[in-house]
Amino acid sequence: MEYLKFCFVFSCWVKFAISVYSTETPQAPVPIPKERLLVLTVATEETDGFIRFKQSADYFNYTVKVLGMGEAWKGGDVGRSIGGGQKVRLLKEAMEGLADQEDLVVLSVDSYDLIFAGGPEEILRKFQQVNHKVLFAAEGLIWPDKRLADKYPSVRSGKRYLNSGGIIGYAPYINKIVTQWNLHDNDDDQLFYTKVYLDPLKRESLNMTLDHKCQIFQNLNGAADEVLLKFGTDRVRVRNTAYDSLPVVVHGNGNTKMYLNYLANYVPNAWNYEHGCSHCDDDLVDLSQLQDYPNVLVGVFIEQPTPFLPEFFQRLLTQDYPKDKLKVFVHNNEVYHEKHIQKFWEENRNVFNSFKVVGPEENLSQGEARNMGMDLCRKDTTCDYYFSIDSDVMLTNRQTLKLLIEQNRKIIGPLVTRHGKLWSNFWGALSLDGYYARSEDYVDIVQRKRMGVWNIPYMAHVYLVKGSSLRNELKERNYFVLEKLDPDMAFCRNAREMTSHREKDSPSPESFHMLRPPKGVFMYISNRHDFGRLISKANYNISHYNSDLWQIFENPVDWKEKYIHQNYTRIFTENVMEEPCPDVFWFPLFTEKACDELVEEMEHYGSWSGGRHEDKRITGGYETVPTDDIHMKQIGFDKEWLHFIREFISPVTLKVFSGYYTKGYAVMNFVVKYTPGRQSYLRPHHDSSTFTINVALNNKDTDFQGGGCRFHRYNCSIESPRKGWSFMHPGRLTHLHEGLPTTNGTRYIAVSFIDP
Ligand SMILES: *[C@@H]1O[C@H](CO)[C@@H](O)[C@H](O)[C@H]1NC(C)=O
Ligand SMILES: *[C@@H]1O[C@H](CO)[C@@H](O)[C@H](O)[C@H]1NC(C)=O
Ligand SMILES: *[C@@H]1O[C@H](CO)[C@@H](O)[C@H](O)[C@H]1NC(C)=O
Ligand SMILES: *[C@@H]1O[C@H](CO)[C@@H](O)[C@H](O)[C@H]1NC(C)=O
Ligand SMILES: *[C@@H]1O[C@H](CO)[C@@H](O)[C@H](O)[C@H]1NC(C)=O
Ligand SMILES: *[C@@H]1O[C@H](CO)[C@@H](O)[C@H](O)[C@H]1NC(C)=O
Ligand SMILES: *[C@@H]1O[C@H](CO)[C@@H](O)[C@H](O)[C@H]1NC(C)=O
Repeated sequence: MEYLKFCFVFSCWVKFAISVYSTETPQAPVPIPKERLLVLTVATEETDGFIRFKQSADYFNYTVKVLGMGEAWKGGDVGRSIGGGQKVRLLKEAMEGLADQEDLVVLSVDSYDLIFAGGPEEILRKFQQVNHKVLFAAEGLIWPDKRLADKYPSVRSGKRYLNSGGIIGYAPYINKIVTQWNLHDNDDDQLFYTKVYLDPLKRESLNMTLDHKCQIFQNLNGAADEVLLKFGTDRVRVRNTAYDSLPVVVHGNGNTKMYLNYLANYVPNAWNYEHGCSHCDDDLVDLSQLQDYPNVLVGVFIEQPTPFLPEFFQRLLTQDYPKDKLKVFVHNNEVYHEKHIQKFWEENRNVFNSFKVVGPEENLSQGEARNMGMDLCRKDTTCDYYFSIDSDVMLTNRQTLKLLIEQNRKIIGPLVTRHGKLWSNFWGALSLDGYYARSEDYVDIVQRKRMGVWNIPYMAHVYLVKGSSLRNELKERNYFVLEKLDPDMAFCRNAREMTSHREKDSPSPESFHMLRPPKGVFMYISNRHDFGRLISKANYNISHYNSDLWQIFENPVDWKEKYIHQNYTRIFTENVMEEPCPDVFWFPLFTEKACDELVEEMEHYGSWSGGRHEDKRITGGYETVPTDDIHMKQIGFDKEWLHFIREFISPVTLKVFSGYYTKGYAVMNFVVKYTPGRQSYLRPHHDSSTFTINVALNNKDTDFQGGGCRFHRYNCSIESPRKGWSFMHPGRLTHLHEGLPTTNGTRYIAVSFIDP
């Protein structure tokens, strides 16, 4: 061993000496014409990875010959165990006819997990510079036999070990190597090449070396940290920062498939800053050309109490897609939501092709339910797509389903994000142990600064899967459950083995089921359009009657959409505000739903005060002008109500009482009930407020007769209050007012004395 080492160092020194003396008159070799480069690759199936490889090869106009297509793969499970001998055998067969072409350069590469980042001229130029007959890719990790490490020539800097995923050499020399193959298809190709290379005599006679500094071949295994994207004007490359090289062939060997997927979202021309996404419009499905829309099975998963569930179903209903083409499967795990589903079903039972609900009584685990939904499509050969959607996904884009189908991918999800947060339904990268990691482009994708269709390692909440894929590449059942392992354990194991698809989540305390692509299938997320948002299920207290009313903090956007009047914002842009009496302003504030739910909530609570003077709820215990009411505080709604005042009332105040800046503070916030049998009117009084808001919660004529409000100083009455509209008027001095008698039915109003 010592002798060998010495020998090696010595020969190195000799070479160095020779090169010093012989390069005095450097002569650039005549470039090899690019027609003399032939790419050989083995692929038995057209996997997504293979298609990507071909795309990059075609982009650079490589001449590619595919070996073994359609042949059964016998080369073992490369990447997890040894194997790949079939590749050498096929190469050996292919080389027989090429062996005598002395000026032919053969590039043998893998294809499922490999892309080109540069063209044939560049590869040939770099190959010539190396001045060897055969050049192998190199990597820093030794595989498959660690005991051979000592036999490798040492290198001062660069990758020391051979990787057989990339070989370039003159045809006769490649042929001389592969003719030595006499092993089986499931023997290891890399071990074979390694042994040839480690034989000092063969290394010399076959004039072989390794691409130690990644001039041509970049293996990502163990080297992901060395590699960065380098954006050019129309091309994106990979830069190796350790050797400052721009490798031409990028190989996601070992456990780096996901990283290659990330790089290939850009390299060589998939996306850049100038032209955006290049392949997003390739192979689109033109729905307008189809005679019939595809059949879609929609799997809806309500695994936890979810705010705004009725709105979720409405959005499903308003998807722009023929409803007779939709079958709906709902898994509802929550008793609380049974009333919502029941109501939706009663109103829309005949809208869809079918509507099936599995309720909480079935006691299905989340994994079982998801398997069941996916299986319904898998087993039904008329099912063209499976669209899985969780109840926390608000699809605001009515075209979502069509847009996803048009994109024509095996698995694709729409990007949905938590409003104002970086939280979304996908992961851009995985940490080494299989947990969440933030990819360099995650924020730009979430914020739609980079738009496209992105190959990603995980997603959840909402995705579309082709039925044909479910019956082929994804035919494995029980996608969502792994033996008896708890979710964490199952997740870790699946992540390690890169086969199955259980989840656990990342920065948020919520946990959900994520879909991970099985081997060979790419999974995409599209952010080409604004599809919708994820709502928060945190802090959802379902012990209220209408619990969504309390969601103003947690889900402000959905709260506003559900409860604030459609024309509220027009107060600030147009003249929708009215002034029926001097300094009494009248404006749209609540939706019908807000009014109805607030009344329901109060009636559900039921303890109306009875309009007595003695009132324990207020300081002093005495009310001079009592109403029959319930305070917001009594139903635990005071914090939410005050927030609502600050968010939606303060801006109106500023508009009508300019120069007055309200503190948005109020102690007295309540709902009043006027009805002939109990209290039907309120005598003239002032309010203990700087200004008062008074919102009508139901309709004159349909819900009650009479009612209204009269301002004495101006001899001015408003006798036809409008449901959802609010008055705003000064509380004291000028605006002595009374509640006019309700003569029939029940009238409800919500009142706040603001800035007392
Ligand atoms: C590939 O060939 C086409 C057609 O000859 C040509 O337009 C294109 O520029 C070539 N691509 C590259 C990267 O050289
Ligand atoms: C390898 O081949 C090149 C020519 O391609 C030659 O210049 C060089 O001397 C050879 N090296 C060895 C060690 O034979
Ligand atoms: C529901 O399933 C869980 C575990 O799968 C079990 O512990 C529980 O007893 C079941 N509940 C009912 C009501 O069947
Ligand atoms: C949920 O609401 C109920 C009724 O208002 C209240 O008693 C309970 O404390 C709330 N729970 C939480 C966790 O806030
Ligand atoms: C909002 O205003 C428009 C135009 O005046 C009207 O047609 C519409 O009905 C209003 N919306 C509601 C919910 O009242
Ligand atoms: C108040 O207005 C009504 C009509 O709106 C009118 O009949 C009445 O005379 C007015 N009273 C006073 C005191 O102006
Ligand atoms: C009172 O209301 C009820 C139902 O709300 C209605 O049937 C009845 O006709 C009303 N009476 C009068 C006098 O308007």
